[in-house]
Amino acid sequence: MSNRDIEAARFFHEATKHSYTSVRSSPHMLDWDNRPIPYKIYPDAPPVMLPRDLNLASIPALEAMASGIAASAGEKLDLEALTRILFCADGLTRRRQVGDEEYHFRAAASAGALYPIEIYVAASAVEGLAPGLYHFSPADLKLRALRPGNFRNHIANAAAGRASLVEARAILILSSIFWRSAWKYRARSYRYCFWDAGTVLANLLAAATGDRLSADLVTAFVDAEIEALLGVDAIHEGIAALVAIGSTAPAGLSADAADARQPIDYEAMPLSAEEVIYPDLVQIQQESRLLSLAEVNAISAAGELRGNTGAGAGGATPGRGLGDTILRRGATREFSHNAIPGADLCAILAASSNHPQCDFPPLCDIYLIANAVEGIEAGAYFYDRTSKRLELLKAGDFRGNAGYLCLEQPLGTDCSALICYMARLDRVLERLGNRGYRDVHLEAGILGGRAWLASFALGHGATGSTFYDDDAAKFFSSHADGKSPILMVALGDRARND
Ligand SMILES: Cc1cc2nc3c(=O)[nH]c(=O)nc-3n(C[C@H](O)[C@H](O)[C@H](O)COP(=O)(O)O)c2cc1C
Repeated sequence: MSNRDIEAARFFHEATKHSYTSVRSSPHMLDWDNRPIPYKIYPDAPPVMLPRDLNLASIPALEAMASGIAASAGEKLDLEALTRILFCADGLTRRRQVGDEEYHFRAAASAGALYPIEIYVAASAVEGLAPGLYHFSPADLKLRALRPGNFRNHIANAAAGRASLVEARAILILSSIFWRSAWKYRARSYRYCFWDAGTVLANLLAAATGDRLSADLVTAFVDAEIEALLGVDAIHEGIAALVAIGSTAPAGLSADAADARQPIDYEAMPLSAEEVIYPDLVQIQQESRLLSLAEVNAISAAGELRGNTGAGAGGATPGRGLGDTILRRGATREFSHNAIPGADLCAILAASSNHPQCDFPPLCDIYLIANAVEGIEAGAYFYDRTSKRLELLKAGDFRGNAGYLCLEQPLGTDCSALICYMARLDRVLERLGNRGYRDVHLEAGILGGRAWLASFALGHGATGSTFYDDDAAKFFSSHADGKSPILMVALGDRARND
């Protein structure tokens, strides 16, 4: 078992492809009585009340996504700013009553509204919060204290001493509870967990910028060290990403006083009566764990190639503020056939394509089907993330194709534009090992989450979409030869009755 045995990721990807035949030959009945709860609940862990009167960031969402804040020792992080970031990333924003059941919707989109992502906070220098490890509970907007003490050295050591972690005021740890998503999507849900971590990160990183705080996303770390800290087993819950928030004065790497490997005193409630384990999912999770600092260093070195950052809205209107955008965001269930302005599409693509401050290089390319965009001929396009230019691949009305590729969902037919994030999986895996399989889905989730926010910031709608893998690759050939579709996001205006 090793990150370098990239046959594991290749096998998993092939085994979890959707095709016209596969969705018909392998139907899945949802077991509603065994539906997992969308929250991790620690009934006995001491609660920490979080401030409720949150003054969410008013800077334009497009600006918050354009570039990050450089780390500096003067950054301040207090409990209110931390709460704003947590709320914008994963807060409970809407409730809907359906029959006897109340459904909760969260700040970031999640495939199937299953919310597999949890956030933990390792606080080391947060005004108003004692150093310790906490779990964020979105349902009642509280933290639950899991362990006292400072753990940033333990975490930084697990990530080969990455400077942002050594100096972080707080480290947010995102994990995936696989069963929540696997309940509906079975083994393929491994991909969805990283998409969902990506949409959470799109919000989280923008919220940090909105609070003038630096944020560094880290995906190369020795998994077992972070799992031990959180008390999770990598089978049911695995670590998705670390984010260093803010910075103290330059600090040296040392040992923490508290022992991060001691068991946690508190138990979480079961998610449902039973849990189904999908062996292919367990296997790819295990094969993409990094087991040593040598493996972490090999990957971090590959990440030196920095991405493009800093391109803004490109002359479009500044659009809504970030807080307002996050509160209004939702999945557009039915699109009108309206054309959106070409300048808005360009601003959305520019916001989406910025590479975040992180430890892996840009992995995804951006393709597009334009159904109805003012000033842009209907057709299939490649969008160059560096030059921010669209290149026409073939002109024509591809509404029917777009609908088909989105698993025959009308959203593809009806939207104004369908973005398809694609990647050269072979190259990604050769460079980053199986860990690259996680990174590529995480990156697509971030880029897709940003496109979604940008579209709402400009007064339009958006939704994510799954797809027929090989048919989507074929549609964008020959330009996309050798690339695999990773995620789709549809953009457009809501239909009147949506
Ligand atoms: C990665 C991803 C994939 C999604 N795929 C689909 C899809 O194929 N079809 C669809 O109708 N909605 C899709 N959605 C939208 C979710 O169903 C929606 O985000 C969820 O129900 C939560 O609702 P909200 O976004 O309005 O808060 C997707 C969302 C995400 C994040």
